[in-house]
Amino acid sequence: MRRALLAQLTALAMLVAATFVTLSTTLIPTASALENGLARTPQMGFNNWNATHCRSDFNEAMVKSIADIFVSSGLRAAGYQYVNIDDCWALPQRDTSGNLVPDPARFPHGIKALADYVHSKGLKFGLYSSAGTKTCDSAGFPGALGHERQDAALWASWGVDYLKYDNCNNQGVDARQRYTAMRDALAATGRPILFSICEWGQNQPWTWAQNVGNSWRTTGDIGDNWATMLSIFQKNLPLARYARPGAWNDPDMLEVGNGGMTDTEYRSHFSLWAMMAAPLLIGTDLRKAGSATLDILTNRDVIAVDQDPLGIQGQQVSAAGGRYVVAKPLANGDVAVGLFNAGEGTATISTTAAAIGLGNAHRYRLQDLWSRSSRTTTGAISASVPAHGTVVYRVSRLGATPAPSAGTSQLSALPWALMSNAWGPAERDRSNGEAPDGDGRTLTVGGVTFVHGLGTNARSEIRYDLGSRCTRFTASVGVDDEVGDRGSVVFQVYADGRKVADSGLLRGTDGVRQISADVSGAALLHLTVLDGGDTADYDHADWGNATITCA
Ligand code: GLA
Repeated sequence: MRRALLAQLTALAMLVAATFVTLSTTLIPTASALENGLARTPQMGFNNWNATHCRSDFNEAMVKSIADIFVSSGLRAAGYQYVNIDDCWALPQRDTSGNLVPDPARFPHGIKALADYVHSKGLKFGLYSSAGTKTCDSAGFPGALGHERQDAALWASWGVDYLKYDNCNNQGVDARQRYTAMRDALAATGRPILFSICEWGQNQPWTWAQNVGNSWRTTGDIGDNWATMLSIFQKNLPLARYARPGAWNDPDMLEVGNGGMTDTEYRSHFSLWAMMAAPLLIGTDLRKAGSATLDILTNRDVIAVDQDPLGIQGQQVSAAGGRYVVAKPLANGDVAVGLFNAGEGTATISTTAAAIGLGNAHRYRLQDLWSRSSRTTTGAISASVPAHGTVVYRVSRLGATPAPSAGTSQLSALPWALMSNAWGPAERDRSNGEAPDGDGRTLTVGGVTFVHGLGTNARSEIRYDLGSRCTRFTASVGVDDEVGDRGSVVFQVYADGRKVADSGLLRGTDGVRQISADVSGAALLHLTVLDGGDTADYDHADWGNATITCA
């Protein structure tokens, strides 16, 4: 009886279903980020604040030297691009036309000349203001609230490429309104200007700022000490699902090299920021930096984890006893895993390839990105980690089992090559449910139930080996009824990185949509679910009856 009803409902769903569209070939998700084309990977550069605050050693000579060192020390080559100045660059009063005036003692040739110098080094230039009547420093420099268009136009005329926009003296005006006004003012200049929201996480910007800024601070200010760095990490880590290319969580600038932490702690700081796909803004005076500091800041393997184009912020796998395991899937199918010991003694930290989302292989290679040693494992991943230390492995699959057997198979019955999911693990033949593995309920979209399929939560990325022997993927997709009318997602299917199907935006109020995609010849199938652009919450997404047909 129940079966017959199920068949009827499924047939009905097939009738109303839309066909899929074949689209462009990009691997980079575009849903709901600020569409100014910037920060497709987290921004990298320098900001003077952590090194100088408002002191007089923050001046033209310093900033020019930083640009020089970016080139001479290989920082530019390692990916650092923006040379940014923070608070205290302006005079306390606007001029008679209401324009901001650079402080002539610090910047005798003005800001435009400084930006020109930075540009001449093949770098980009950023500055700072506040979405308030004054900036944050007690000296009280003018803020841009109510002056958005005029200030943005002036900065654009100077060649500014980046704005850090603070939150002090905001007069209680709604944050979203204040930051949106500046977003629009920057856009009106016609110059691409990266927009870095610095609102300290006070109004949960991760729930509204994806379309407003390229990044948003998630916490109060960092300090050059272990306790502050640790507490910021702990606040920023659970926000992984809100980050995406063009729109990043910002746990504040780096303190690496400033002297308040050990090199082991600074390596942890840098590793954790990279695992969290954080902006990497050097905050030390590079004129005084020793080789240990430069070695940390230029570790290209760790930088590659931060800058990976898949753009997924690493997620917590476990954290028992302050022994953190954080996993970050990478574009080439590897997974970076951070084993971070927040405790006071050496500890063994262990996980497995399966727990970090890798599967369907006989062996895995572990590349230690700090010691640069490499070894293989059949699945166990473990390291002895000193107090406050972090081991980062790039884990690669070796000896994958090639293809599903001939005929049509349910994907939920096959081992995945890679699984990354924003709310606990993806479920097989169940909805995502809550975070624990194996919970959830019968997959249900718009009242239609599915015995088989995958229950996920955006952002989700699941990959299967096809061994180039399969022809067609089909599924009935939609937002699971377990979230009511909430949730909004986009389903995408890729064959070897080529997009072969896209559901378009599906909301909790929509029914089932059919996807059918030609995957002929592909070695790898990617099933991607992106947040549809409202809040990134309640995005429970079902791949109902997901099948693959192989020769
Ligand atoms: C605030 C910001 C800091 C820095 C100072 C400058 O505290 O959060 O990052 O810009 O203002 O005054």
